[in-house]
Amino acid sequence: MNVMHVESYEQMSRIAANIIWAQIVLKPECVLGLATGSTPVGIYKRLVELHRNGELDFSRATTVNLDEYCGLDGGHPQSYRFFMNRQLFDHVNIEKARTHMPDGVAADPQTECRRYDVLIQSLGGIDLQLLGIGHNGHIGFNEPGAEFCIPTHVVELTPSTIKANSRFFASDEEVPKRAITMGMGAIMAARKVVLAVSGADKRDILEKALYGPVTPQIPASLLQLHPDLTVVCCVG
Ligand code: GLP
Repeated sequence: MNVMHVESYEQMSRIAANIIWAQIVLKPECVLGLATGSTPVGIYKRLVELHRNGELDFSRATTVNLDEYCGLDGGHPQSYRFFMNRQLFDHVNIEKARTHMPDGVAADPQTECRRYDVLIQSLGGIDLQLLGIGHNGHIGFNEPGAEFCIPTHVVELTPSTIKANSRFFASDEEVPKRAITMGMGAIMAARKVVLAVSGADKRDILEKALYGPVTPQIPASLLQLHPDLTVVCCVG
């Protein structure tokens, strides 16, 4: 594991974006696993800049996002599809048909979970997975629990996650209580993982995830076992 402590959010964003840039340059037809949340916003901004400067071509890349809220369709401003379009996909030359997310309004969420795992497999797995971390150690929406959940699955969001994500909604009540998330299997099978972490409020959980026991109570702790993990963090 390679842990880079950097000084600022801007530096974290530039370095993580550079790693993604290098991945696309080295393998233009790569599969990128992407994340939502506040942390990657600066990374996507930098990728858009690189594209506008003519230094980054997304035309052969494919993306798979980690998760989506149940009950929100892509037109909902708080859906992760909407977020990804606005932060990245609308501004670079990637075909929308090659940008994949779980469908939050699928008639049968269990079937949707299976479809998503089959899709990821059919793409040959993920070359580079970008991750953030939740305050309780979740990655994607893999919440703390009794065991690591391997396949894509429907998850009941914990009260702390609902609270944390309520900042994007008018009230706690409006935050969906369930989501579909890629499981630990596809994340751990990614050939490279980049974990971006920003803010002093994430320092303790990052410390536990990287150096504490590997436990499903802190899903990100499983990343200690990943053979190619880069952590870029500015946690004070
Ligand atoms: C959400 C997302 C995660 C993200 C986490 C932290 O729960 N599902 O993928 O890592 O929030 O978000 P932030 O970067 O805003 O702290």
